[in-house]
Amino acid sequence: MSAETGRPQFTQPPVPPPPPLTRQPPLTRQPPLAGQTPLTRRPPALPAADKAGTASSLVAGRDPAVRARGLTKVYGAGEAAVHALRGVDLDIERAKLTAIMGPSGSGKSSLLHVMAALDRPSAGEVLLEGVALAGASARELTGLRRDRLGFVFQEFNLVPTLTAWENITLPLEIGRKARDLEWLDRLVDTLGLRDRLRHRPAQLSGGQCQRVACARALAARPAVVFADEPTGNLDSAAAQQILRFLRQAVDELGQTVVMVTHDPGAAAWADRVVFLADGAVAGERVKPTREDVLTFLAA
Ligand SMILES: Nc1ncnc2c1ncn2[C@@H]1O[C@H](COP(=O)(O)OP(=O)(O)OP(=O)(O)O)[C@@H](O)[C@H]1O
Ligand SMILES: [Mg+2]
Repeated sequence: MSAETGRPQFTQPPVPPPPPLTRQPPLTRQPPLAGQTPLTRRPPALPAADKAGTASSLVAGRDPAVRARGLTKVYGAGEAAVHALRGVDLDIERAKLTAIMGPSGSGKSSLLHVMAALDRPSAGEVLLEGVALAGASARELTGLRRDRLGFVFQEFNLVPTLTAWENITLPLEIGRKARDLEWLDRLVDTLGLRDRLRHRPAQLSGGQCQRVACARALAARPAVVFADEPTGNLDSAAAQQILRFLRQAVDELGQTVVMVTHDPGAAAWADRVVFLADGAVAGERVKPTREDVLTFLAA
């Protein structure tokens, strides 16, 4: 991702793709996990000893996964200025699925991009597991995005020339990180991708592409996964698969997920939904139902 443009940078593979698998998975010597087998719950992934993973973040629960304080985002200047965020205070709890909803133009993507270190706020601060992003250099932010944050976008943003497996492991290749094959095995099976790993995006359905994008987002066991309308381009069956996976990622893999959505049905999968209006937090619901969301939006 580019901090300057906020646009994903997955279109150009910066490193040669990994060598092709010599055989179809399983990726480990262990027998493949059954697709429906519930995954063993594990605590939230502990950070590596990098800037974003100092001792404070190792004390589970001490800091929220993300803390936003007084976030302001202004695009442009003078008469052309657009005030996308107007002082947002928000805590994203660890190991929870948080949905962000609001009308088009209310600042949902702007908030996600600023919290995900894809863009800098005009004012205010973001702390990732208690560590302020403001002090990080561009290089440190790049490392942070690669190693500690995961992204899922409406348009999938897969590299068309790479196979599904190569797309999934691309962040690890870029970061020269060892592949945790057992973890990747779990992701591949949970997402039902085992028989699609050698396919390129053009040979996959939209739902399969988004499942590959989900596996890529979780490949490095990030502190937080940010998803901007992950089901926006999918039919309802494919959308359900993605939502079920994001729920599983939280409940069974201990991941923290923040998801922007327009769909009250999607928001109902969340532990909490936060409503934005005109660049500010307008309310929230814990354990929302679809009806709760519709009622709030209608008010
Ligand atoms: N790069 C940009 N330059 C100028 N204005 C921008 C930029 N990005 C967003 N905006 C403006 O900021 C406001 C908030 O946009 P944002 O994309 O955050 O809204 P959103 O809630 O995600 O909307 P949608 O539901 O349509 O995706 C809008 O008025 C938008 O036009
Ligand atoms: Mg948006």
